Amino acid sequence: MTLHQLLLERHSIRRYTDQPIPAEDVKTIIEAGLLSPSSKSARSWQFVVVEDRDMLTRLSDLKPSYAASIKDCRFAVVVTTDPTQSEAYIEDASVAATLMHLQAADLGIGSCWVQVRGRMAADGTPSEEVVRDLLAIPEHMCVECVVTFGYSAETRKPVDPDKLKWEKVHIGSWSQDL
Ligand SMILES: Cc1cc2nc3c(=O)[nH]c(=O)nc-3n(C[C@H](O)[C@H](O)[C@H](O)COP(=O)(O)O)c2cc1C
Repeated sequence: MTLHQLLLERHSIRRYTDQPIPAEDVKTIIEAGLLSPSSKSARSWQFVVVEDRDMLTRLSDLKPSYAASIKDCRFAVVVTTDPTQSEAYIEDASVAATLMHLQAADLGIGSCWVQVRGRMAADGTPSEEVVRDLLAIPEHMCVECVVTFGYSAETRKPVDPDKLKWEKVHIGSWSQDL
């Protein structure tokens, strides 16, 4: 499959089967994160890989909605990033999370980004604090997201390229009056 075909078929997957993921595939996914480009090559990210079911269940309480895939997944990668290492720490983390998501898709493994930074738990505690406390992540590290992984229990259709939002693309300049 070409990369473009993979991009057309890729989806965020939030429900997973019980099938375990081979250790070498877990390693390949983490490697994709470690291979990601970063501003000034600072590699401001650090990843916490979580497979323990009890911990995944506790992590899924980091916010009241759109976090259930954490409880269901086979493993998750908590993507943290260090503001003292790079002014582009959020971008570095975002690229790493995206490459792990795409690498998983290439291996036939579903995944989903669960946003942490800027979100709150049901009791108003910042989601970042919830995750930091559960996983002993140092205070200065930003917790950008949790990426969940597992074999898909959903059926999703490839994107129809004719339905892409080409109206968001401006050729030459934003305004045609120039
Ligand atoms: C920055 C960002 C934050 C996201 N946060 C969540 C989230 O908290 N929970 C979730 O289930 N999906 C989350 N997603 C996945 C999006 O909902 C998903 O990409 C979007 O609905 C488009 O669907 P697709 O990925 O299948 O094309 C996030 C994606 C991005 C890029």
